[in-house]
Amino acid sequence: TSYRSTMEDPWQKAYDFAVTVARKAGEVIRKAGESEIKVSTKSSTVDLVTKTDERVEKIIIGSLKEEFGEGTHCFIGEESVAKGEPCILTHKPTWIIDPVDGTTNFVHGFPFVAVSIAFAVNKQLEFGVIYSCLEDKMYKARNGKGAYCDDELIQVSDVKDINKSIIISEHGTDRSPEKVKKIFSTMQKILCIPVHGLRGSGTAATNMCLVATGAVEAFFEIGIHCWDIAAGAVIVKEAGGVLLDVDGGPFDLMSRRMVSANNEVIARRIIKEIEIFSAERDDAPIQKK
Ligand code: IPD
Ligand code: CA
Repeated sequence: TSYRSTMEDPWQKAYDFAVTVARKAGEVIRKAGESEIKVSTKSSTVDLVTKTDERVEKIIIGSLKEEFGEGTHCFIGEESVAKGEPCILTHKPTWIIDPVDGTTNFVHGFPFVAVSIAFAVNKQLEFGVIYSCLEDKMYKARNGKGAYCDDELIQVSDVKDINKSIIISEHGTDRSPEKVKKIFSTMQKILCIPVHGLRGSGTAATNMCLVATGAVEAFFEIGIHCWDIAAGAVIVKEAGGVLLDVDGGPFDLMSRRMVSANNEVIARRIIKEIEIFSAERDDAPIQKK
């Protein structure tokens, strides 16, 4: 089935609502950061989760269900998937949510934490909203309608010379020595091209907004999940940037690999240096125990 609306601008209401919900979620996160934060772990001892992650996801999904009805829209949320909900993108209208991107930052008081909400229909991303809640910056973009930060149009940088670039990468939460070795070997090669600098904010969503505003030329990572990058993908694209797979092929939201950049020249120059390692797809069939 293909989902279409007869209305001229079918998803405007959903887009506006996502902005309101993201702001509300960010306020909850800001408040929660003022008191003691109780931390648990997920896939590894450095993959952190807090009560706030779970609470904020419930608030977001609860608000969306109330507004758009339970049956018609699907939801992929980081904490729901952690609890065993499926992570499969179908043709149905689907919300892809990271309630707290940068949980480690949140726990430590490192000042970049974002709420990321994206919406896809027929497997195509329609819009993305990222609220960088400690900086109080609202990033948003709709397919074909440009990208904004707080209602100001944003654009990627026009740098084509890799020697004049700043590149972001992260090391994620998988600390197996072979993977860490590849990550740092890639970073070393990129640093020594040389580039002006390497950075990382600790949130994939914010990193993509930094590509979109032109503060950096590219952000790439293997091991991220669809909820980390879905909203950012729309924002980067609408700001004039490009998305590619780490092997140079087309970007695949569920593949857990991504290069986002201001242009294809920069993206392909970085791809030349990336040492690829395996990461199980987000939509891989769940292993029976
Ligand atoms: C993480 C952040 C981080 C990225 C990790 C993600 P979380 O998300 O986006 O920047 O390197 O791969 O898992 O756990 O803070 O929601
Ligand atoms: Ca995340």
